[in-house]
Order: sequence, then structure tokens, then C-alpha cells
Amino acid sequence: MLLKFIFKGEDKLIEETKKIIFVGGKGGVGKSTSAAAMAWNLSQKDYRTLLVSTDPAHNLGDIFDCKIGGSIKSVTTKLFALEIDPDIETETYIQRVKSNIKGIVHVGMIEEVHRQLDTAKASPGADEAALFDKLISIILEESENFDRIVFDTAPTGHTIRLLSLPELMGVWIEGLLQKRQKANKNYSQLLNDGEPVEDPIYDVLKTRQARFSKVREILLDSAQTEFYFVLNAERLPILETKKAIDLLGQYSIHVNSLIVNKILPVEADGVFLEKRRAHEQEYIHKIKKMFKDQKFVFVPLFSEDIMSRRGLAEFSTYLERG
Ligand SMILES: Nc1ncnc2c1ncn2[C@@H]1O[C@H](COP(=O)(O)OP(=O)(O)O)[C@@H](O)[C@H]1O
Ligand SMILES: [Mg+2]
Repeated sequence: MLLKFIFKGEDKLIEETKKIIFVGGKGGVGKSTSAAAMAWNLSQKDYRTLLVSTDPAHNLGDIFDCKIGGSIKSVTTKLFALEIDPDIETETYIQRVKSNIKGIVHVGMIEEVHRQLDTAKASPGADEAALFDKLISIILEESENFDRIVFDTAPTGHTIRLLSLPELMGVWIEGLLQKRQKANKNYSQLLNDGEPVEDPIYDVLKTRQARFSKVREILLDSAQTEFYFVLNAERLPILETKKAIDLLGQYSIHVNSLIVNKILPVEADGVFLEKRRAHEQEYIHKIKKMFKDQKFVFVPLFSEDIMSRRGLAEFSTYLERG
């Protein structure tokens, strides 16, 4: 009786009305599977859907049994997928910065600036900045081409950094802008008879700031964006999910839904599994007590890996049970 209740879940999880969906969680819990199942489900309902993987350990290609890679590929007429490659994105990002500063930096300085940018490419954080830029351009530009965008994100720590970046970068750019404004004011008073000076760097920063705040607005708007976390009924994924949800909360991002994956199915029998199931029960109670502000569904452990479209379709039925 209890088990029946467990599999029934609490709510219908697939949010048809939300334009942007983020799926996060610890490695191996079933993020890519959940994101792919959701994207599959939406595309089957005739939404033109883009599935984006930001986890360097991509496996969307395996799930759909076709090569995906760094540019948008069509899986079916309604489903499209993209695996963002951090190395390529970092290279593109640095190239873009180089071309942005052309004409801004004094010719004699260009070589030195390029050398520094090439060093920056290898520094920690460059990957994230590049990935973030790509994410922003997908959210802002690809929104026009797709009805739904599902992000299969990197394991928890990364996701949080990425999602909190608009906030952090916003503050950082604001600081830079103020500094530049002050410098320009002094400069124009001193050298330009008080006339305002043209400042291309200021303009570049201003454009970036506008893009960040637009994305932030979209991410924080619960009518447009939904955040899901996937976890298993085990100690560490539960603790990590709790930590992640609290942290995202600090950036005003509310994780609405949890997918508790790989629950032992009712038909699994034997003394060993019986014991394991009793243990699992304790964790399930813990999850229900700990996550009062989230709705959640339970997905059973399948007898095989989920590697076919049929498997995804079956998986997605569990996300829809109300
Ligand atoms: N409910 C499930 N039943 C059986 N296998 C599953 C289930 N969910 C995920 N898997 C399998 O577990 C492995 C890890 O899942 P994946 O979605 O790649 O995790 P993540 O993206 O979180 O690292 C994959 O081989 C996948 O097929
Ligand atoms: Mg994955």
C-alpha cells in the first residue's frame, strides 16, 4: 500500500507552460536521463524543443544514439540537441574578446594584451565564463527559434556557480561601469572642455550588463523558468540537494521540483532487496520531511539503462503522474 503511494508521486512534474527548464543534481543520479525524457515528452507534444547539455561529461548522443556535438542537431522534426564543448567555447570567447578590443586598445599594446588573453584562456574560471556566455546567448537568441529549452546541467557545484553568475557578474560590471564613468568625467573635465568623451569599453560593458540583467530577469521569473533537481534516495544526494537548494535560494532562485530517481520497484523481490527497500523508506521519509517547499515525483529503477526513445517515453510517464 505504502509502495503504491510512493510511486504515485505527489504532483505532475512536467511543466508545459515554462519556456526554460534547468535540470540539476549530483553526477550519476539521472540528470541527463531526466532532461532527455522531459525534452522528448515536450517534443512529442509538438513543442519545438531544444535540449542543451552543459555537463562536460556529455551523454545526450548516447541516449539518442546519434552524434550531437557543439552545434544544434535535429534529433526529430521537433527535438533538437546541443552539447556545449567548454574548450571550443573558451576559444570562441577569447577570440570574441580579442575582436572586441580591436580599435580600443592602442596598436602597440595589442600583442601584449593578446598574450595575456591567451594566458587567461588556461586560467580557472575561463571555462565557466565562456560557458556562461554561451548559455546567455542560447537563452536570449535561441528563445525565438524554440518553444521550450531544456538544460541538462553539470553536477551541482558548477550549476550553482553558473546560475549565481548573473548576480555576481552584475555587481562586478556595475563596479567597473562606475569606475569608468568617474574616469571619463575627470578626463573630459581635464582635456575635453567638459564635453563627454566617447568610450567604447564603457559601451561594451553596458551591453553586457544589459544582457546579464535580461537573463537574470528570465531566470528569476517563475512563469518562464523552472528548476528541477534530480536525486536518489541516498544520504549524500539528499544532503547535497538540500545544500544546493538553500544556496540557490540565497540568489532568489526557487527549485520547485524534485525527481527522486532509481527507487526500487515494487516487483523487485528477495531478502536482500527487502532490506534495501526498508532502508530506502527511511530516506524517502527524510526527503518528504526535508523538502517541504518542493513538489516531487518518484521514478523507479528500470531493469536496464535508459538508452532508447521508448525508455525515455516510459521514464517521462513517471514525471507526469499526478
Ligand atoms: N530510473 C533509472 N533506471 C535505470 N537506470 C537509470 C535510471 N535513471 C538513470 N539510469 C541510468 O543511470 C546512468 C546515469 O544516468 P545519467 O542520466 O547519465 O546521470 P547524470 O546525468 O546525472 O550523471 C545511465 O546509465 C542511465 O541510463
Ligand atoms: Mg549527465
